[in-house]
Amino acid sequence: MIKRKSAREIDFMRQAGRIAAGARNLAGSLVNVGATTKSIDKAIHDYIISQGAKPAFLGYRDYPASSCISVNEEVIHAIPSARRLVSGDIVSIDIGVVKCGYIGDCAATFVAGQATEEAKRLIRVTRECFYEALKKAKAGNRVSDISRAVQQHAEKNGYSVVREYTGHGVGSKIHEPPEVPNFVEVPRKKADPRLMSGMTIAIEPMINEGGAAIFVKEDDWTVTTADGKNSAHYENTILITEDEPEILTACED
Ligand code: MF3
Ligand code: CO
Repeated sequence: MIKRKSAREIDFMRQAGRIAAGARNLAGSLVNVGATTKSIDKAIHDYIISQGAKPAFLGYRDYPASSCISVNEEVIHAIPSARRLVSGDIVSIDIGVVKCGYIGDCAATFVAGQATEEAKRLIRVTRECFYEALKKAKAGNRVSDISRAVQQHAEKNGYSVVREYTGHGVGSKIHEPPEVPNFVEVPRKKADPRLMSGMTIAIEPMINEGGAAIFVKEDDWTVTTADGKNSAHYENTILITEDEPEILTACED
């Protein structure tokens, strides 16, 4: 069952989203040569607590940190560590915040030091995939309209989309129905729900420079590209309305 949120729930999600986006901005400013991913995670954690909220990922299925910080060929879910960033690293940071029982979930990929043009293009196109999908995020459209927009924009640019992980509904839980895939399944095997006002979903393109194939490392968390090529991630939690969608993980500063 896909829940449509009340005005009160949406207000909580806006608060959670604003804090998540603030943490993402802060994290981006800390993606520098020599920084450890653990130090960035600690800053994210402390910022979230300072805002009177809680990190949604910490303890979720025993996840041990407040963010996922995935470098280069790591796609998602890498655990912050003593790894020091070097110039040219592309760093995907995924953050979840709980405020008043509701969640904001967002991610972005940043560069440490000097990035190659190819890395910058991957990051830009991944972000564009989100905005192409956002144009389709309207009451009356279907989830597959979002999926198609992401897939087409990625593939048109010579990239591939990860299939094993998807965007998702979000609310009082991190993952709620519906699944929001970044590709269209042909022939379609699963339901393709219609978007309705009051639905809150996370749209999160995970885009690979090379092939779509991924594997999960021995730590049972880190998702990595099979061919070792770079991957980028961009995510916002949004609210479906009767007209334009609202980005809930937005922050003015
Ligand atoms: N942010 C991820 C998502 O959007 C969830 C991460 S769960 C964690 O689906 F346990 F890895 F933190
Ligand atoms: Co998410």
